[in-house]
Amino acid sequence: MCGIVGYIGKQKASAIILEGLKRLEYRGYDSAGVSTQHEGRFELAKKIGRVDGLIKGTPALKLPGTTGIGHTRWATHGGVTDANAHPHISSDQKFALIHNGVIENYSSIKKFLLTKGYTFQSETDTEVLCNLIAYHYQKEPVSAEASRFLEAVRKTLRHVEGTYGIAVMCADCPAEIVAARKGSPLILGVGDGELMLASDVSALISRTQNVVYLKDGEIVHMTGRNFTITTLEAEDVSPVIDKVTWSVADAELGSHAHFMEKEIFEQPVALENTMRGRFSEDGSTAQFGGLNISPVDFRQIDRINFLACGSAWHACLVAEQLIERFARVPVEVDYASEFRYRNIPLSRNTLFFVISQSGETIDTLAAMREAKRKGYKVLALCNVVGSTIAREADGGVYQHVGPEIGVASTKAFTSQLLIGAMLALYIGRMRDMSFSGGVAYVNALKGAPDLVRETLKLAPQLKDIAQRYAKYHDMLFLGRLALFPIALEGALKLKEISYIHAEGYPAAEMKHGPIALISEQCPSVFFVPSGEMFNKVVSSMQEIKARKGKIIAIVTAGCELPPDLADDVVRIPECHEAVQPIVATVPVQLLSYYIAVALGRDVDKPRNLAKSVTVE
Ligand code: M6R
Repeated sequence: MCGIVGYIGKQKASAIILEGLKRLEYRGYDSAGVSTQHEGRFELAKKIGRVDGLIKGTPALKLPGTTGIGHTRWATHGGVTDANAHPHISSDQKFALIHNGVIENYSSIKKFLLTKGYTFQSETDTEVLCNLIAYHYQKEPVSAEASRFLEAVRKTLRHVEGTYGIAVMCADCPAEIVAARKGSPLILGVGDGELMLASDVSALISRTQNVVYLKDGEIVHMTGRNFTITTLEAEDVSPVIDKVTWSVADAELGSHAHFMEKEIFEQPVALENTMRGRFSEDGSTAQFGGLNISPVDFRQIDRINFLACGSAWHACLVAEQLIERFARVPVEVDYASEFRYRNIPLSRNTLFFVISQSGETIDTLAAMREAKRKGYKVLALCNVVGSTIAREADGGVYQHVGPEIGVASTKAFTSQLLIGAMLALYIGRMRDMSFSGGVAYVNALKGAPDLVRETLKLAPQLKDIAQRYAKYHDMLFLGRLALFPIALEGALKLKEISYIHAEGYPAAEMKHGPIALISEQCPSVFFVPSGEMFNKVVSSMQEIKARKGKIIAIVTAGCELPPDLADDVVRIPECHEAVQPIVATVPVQLLSYYIAVALGRDVDKPRNLAKSVTVE
């Protein structure tokens, strides 16, 4: 949540920062702002709304100076107003600051600062932080050895409770930025004669691929083209420079109207990248390089506990079904946000898995830390390399699907489904799954990208259906077994980007309550797979039809539905049950996307949402 960009170099800072902010806008888009340093003072432009509005409606692009900071905001403390937009400037005009996170004790600090004569223009916790730095700065002795600027920030951060990723400029220190993190991501980009800072690599990759992932409790002091990293306790840190593998094209729209569309159509290649090199030579099982847990230890595990939020939580529910079915290990799935407050009894040989595309979701991170605190091993399944969850986990699996920029998760979700299916295979082959069963399973997974390619050909049909269903205000998504989580995912996709109210249920559960919603005005989307559940799901459809509910049926090719039962029939390819959830996801992604487009919604930046949720 909230995007942060900083720049020190020889170029005009505002232009580079605004380009970075555009790439980060998916992290928050309530307001945007930029400040540069020029001739010992700060230039500032900020405004509610999008980065484009900031560029058109203010002199943001014209601000002079080669050092600056910029921000896109997802509002926490204080409404969406120009005054609450970042950057904030201290009342003595000495400091400009941008912040991602929440300062929990801001109110007592504010009271203290008011008694010291500091004044406030906004309702934000960020402005309090900025003025507290100013307060410590004027108290800090001038010394030849230590930077007064850096020490003022360090002292301030020792007094604050909460989470932050901050970047600060000091009017007395040209070409310097001090930045720090605790609970919010921050990455230093080391370019050719220039330094950058961002909350996400996508803002940096057009200028450099060399990055330092800052850790919680670290402070970077950028001075011209040099930098030092220390801790809150003033200990030196030796920086590790990593190379980003994502390219600029990965983070650009290309010929697509929206990132969501691009990412839906990237899924076949994304799945290929997820599974590349991850099958054993004999083709009977999966293999993962970074689990950091031996097969012997794996065999001791008698329970697996998955933790995640949102779509990633749905992916956990599918993994639960597949692991229990193919590996015969009991699985629990918890909302990460609930887990750490529930204090559930856990068996000694429980293995934890967290799933997070961004690797920064605060609830998932906190749940992971709680499990680790209790002495459990936690493995992570993340897309963003170097993210906090990926780094703090005991081991894990990277998704390798490239940047996911649309707020609605698509390619990351299907890749999580694939890794869940591969884990079921991996653990299953350590237990009861036979060699031939493993080979059949591997071949099925290898076929998934092509099946998704085939399913994507349904786009014109789903666009047509979307035009007719965009007028409804409520919709149900119904599926059974491993397709129940896909029903949840379909409902989440629809509501988050189109704002149509939608619910997902196990198809048979519908008659225990949700059926009361059914009328001509509330259509249902049914997943109707071949196999043992086919007749059961058809019965549920009959119950809806008897109450005049419209039905979109997503049916396995080759299955014949009773005539006139469904109003629209979408035929997806027949496939192995480990692959079925992946294939079945594609039509509901397309349906939601085309409905949102038909309604003129801002698909990639739906209201009130941000891509990675880094506040509790
Ligand atoms: O980055 P994460 O996978 O941890 O994010 C979890 C959820 O916030 C995320 O899946 C969210 O629900 C998406 N907007 C769903 O499309």
